[in-house]
Amino acid sequence: MRRLRRNQRFRNLVRETRLSPESMIYPIFVCPGEKIRHEVGSMPGQYNLSVDKAVETARDAEKAGVAGILLFGLPPQKDDVGSDAYDDNGIVQQALGAIRENVRDLLLITDVCLCEYTSHGHCGVIKHSDVQNDPTLKLLADAAVSHVRAGADMVAPSDMMDGRVAAIRLALDGEGFTNTPIMAYSAKYASGFYGPFREAADSTPKFGDRKSYQMDPPNAREALREIALDIEEGADIVMVKPALAYLDIIARAREQFDVPIAAYQVSGEYAMIEAAARAGWIERQRIILETITAIRRAGADILITYYALELAKML
Ligand code: PBG
Repeated sequence: MRRLRRNQRFRNLVRETRLSPESMIYPIFVCPGEKIRHEVGSMPGQYNLSVDKAVETARDAEKAGVAGILLFGLPPQKDDVGSDAYDDNGIVQQALGAIRENVRDLLLITDVCLCEYTSHGHCGVIKHSDVQNDPTLKLLADAAVSHVRAGADMVAPSDMMDGRVAAIRLALDGEGFTNTPIMAYSAKYASGFYGPFREAADSTPKFGDRKSYQMDPPNAREALREIALDIEEGADIVMVKPALAYLDIIARAREQFDVPIAAYQVSGEYAMIEAAARAGWIERQRIILETITAIRRAGADILITYYALELAKML
């Protein structure tokens, strides 16, 4: 076995997994105001960006050659039905307009969810302290339509309500957006790895948790059912999230389905690497490459990662 490991040329020749910026997506957090570039405490190197700064970052992403950016919004006001999410003048819609004007060769993808926009921090509307499934679908569909109207190339529902992919597909088609694909967060687990994101997006639920809609981490077969349902409902790309702790799910999904699979290396995965690197306990670049390679090797076609820009420069 060692013959083909003798030197870098041989190792490159027989390499089974390669990384390319073209399959990477960079998430960004857009906030109100001007000239704001506020570092997220638990995600060093990642920022809340006002629209003008988001445009600059989008330009960087275009230059770096990544496939696209995934936009999250921090609205100026939250309410119990998440109105800013589907307001044509909402924070993400404003960002889309400004970025679209300045940046051409970059996919603009939006996270479709209510949790950043609701005062209670849940991903759907609440009645009797419970997240209501069907009444939420209309609002998610409105958000998706509003994003596409503002310039989004693709929408990515992350709420985990049942039936949302079908509801969004129907709404987009009804508005004539028949060409706009949906990347569904299909197997999204109720994970502790989202902690830093909730600081970045100010979206921690004010009561309870997300376990009644996001998946239970011990379950794998259930993830395949979620993915099958989303494909049936019209998802063009399906996602597994988080990534590193769920490589088995990515691999099983790869075997069972022919659609493109995305994996999201989430905020907690990023924060752990950054923290350990700061402590001097790991080699930062090496671990970034090794984890991303593992996610791709498991079967992910598309990598959503806070390291996308840095990786693009590294590769
Ligand atoms: C919104 C959403 C979350 C993430 C992506 N979309 C947070 C959550 O579900 O609590 C997490 C991303 C990350 O941790 O990097 N529902």
